[in-house]
Amino acid sequence: MSTSIAVSVENKPHDSAVGKHFKLIDRTYENNIASDYTEKIEALGKSFDYEKNSQDYWGEREFSTLYGTPFYEHASESQKRALNHLYWVGQYNHTANAEANTMLYNQVTTGVFAHLGRYEKLCEELTFETSQERFHINTFQRIGLKTKIALMGKSFLHKPVRSKKKSSQQTYLSKLIPKAVSSAFETRWGNESNSLQDSCLRTFNRMVHPNRDRYYSQYLSAREGASIPTATGGLAGNTASPSIIKFLTLSWGSSPFMACHYYTMRMVANISLKGYEYQYYKKFRHLERQGSYIPVPTSVSHYHLLDEAFHTTMSQVIAQDVYKDMPQPTAYEKWLANMIVLRGQKGVMGGLSGWLPMTFRDDAFFLPTLYRLLRSPMFELSHLDALYWMERCLCHEHEGFHANLNHHQNLLGTFQRFFEPISYLWSQCREVKPMVVGGSIERAIQRNSKAFKRFSMLEEQL
Ligand SMILES: [Fe+2]
Ligand SMILES: [Fe+2]
Repeated sequence: MSTSIAVSVENKPHDSAVGKHFKLIDRTYENNIASDYTEKIEALGKSFDYEKNSQDYWGEREFSTLYGTPFYEHASESQKRALNHLYWVGQYNHTANAEANTMLYNQVTTGVFAHLGRYEKLCEELTFETSQERFHINTFQRIGLKTKIALMGKSFLHKPVRSKKKSSQQTYLSKLIPKAVSSAFETRWGNESNSLQDSCLRTFNRMVHPNRDRYYSQYLSAREGASIPTATGGLAGNTASPSIIKFLTLSWGSSPFMACHYYTMRMVANISLKGYEYQYYKKFRHLERQGSYIPVPTSVSHYHLLDEAFHTTMSQVIAQDVYKDMPQPTAYEKWLANMIVLRGQKGVMGGLSGWLPMTFRDDAFFLPTLYRLLRSPMFELSHLDALYWMERCLCHEHEGFHANLNHHQNLLGTFQRFFEPISYLWSQCREVKPMVVGGSIERAIQRNSKAFKRFSMLEEQL
């Protein structure tokens, strides 16, 4: 975003705001500027050559796609290495989407904070983070694409696995994709409908945020004539349709309390990222001590973690402390903030994957992805063999479920420690109940069995 956003000296926060968190924000900004690894990350991305990195594991073996499943046990050593690489690609593809959301919402919320006095450093830090994310995303995408092309070939990446008529493909998607994400696959509304939808959302937003005119995001008011910015993918895009996300964009840009609330959700992405990134960081340090070759993606993860440490500190301090400086939320804002947290927790941590380590969503979301992987040139399975292995990996207990349940228990404690002190949240949000409920192998297998049955029946009909 432009650094020229005017920071008003009016509307200074309450005196109690002169607290420790101001010092922490100042220090975080200065340290982030001083350390900044974006150039290093960009140079690593540009130097990446898959062949030179193909013989090494990029992370620990247990952070491999399909790790612990019966299929993994049957894979050859080179396939296991490739599954370790694909795990990096999948996780950082998700990270790139989440960071694209961050770029948008950093700008939306900075446009709110800019109306307040005393938050100049906070705005500068968020603006700086936005510029860092651009380099991170480019690097993740560059390495991801080169790796996928090397492992699967360009032609496979561009064609569907099975030829389907358009109409049956649409029916297939409508039956297969959970309602929560189905609208992301629908035909986009035309311009006329979009502008009607946007105008309804803006009118509603004006009605429910009484102080909106005073605090409305400068970033959004500069785009009043254009369509409302939205996100597709990442944490936000995975849990709601584009129109719901537009509604959230306006909500997070309409009051200082809601702007702070956005950082509870950004922190979910920060904690989830660290859940898999930290082992790459440790591997880097280990290889460095040994004087061994360090694969480029391992280095990228290492330096990215160092940049992200500052972003995590900012998410935590805004979500847990800065909101207390702000005017009290209305009853509607409190309700909305809780609903967003609850929905987000259900959407991104309400399940347990059997084949994607450190992933806590139902495998129902990933059935087409797994099918496609098994049919890819990496494994070249027939249609029936792919379905056979999917059933074995998703619908029966195996080591992969137990390994992921272990990750789940560790991360649950981290999430609970983060949410617990946020006083306006309902107890079910502070205790992260959706994640507690999702931490069951038995439940995961039951849900997978139902989803797999539906998936295989639909596949047969095509
Ligand atoms: Fe990043
Ligand atoms: Fe970040």
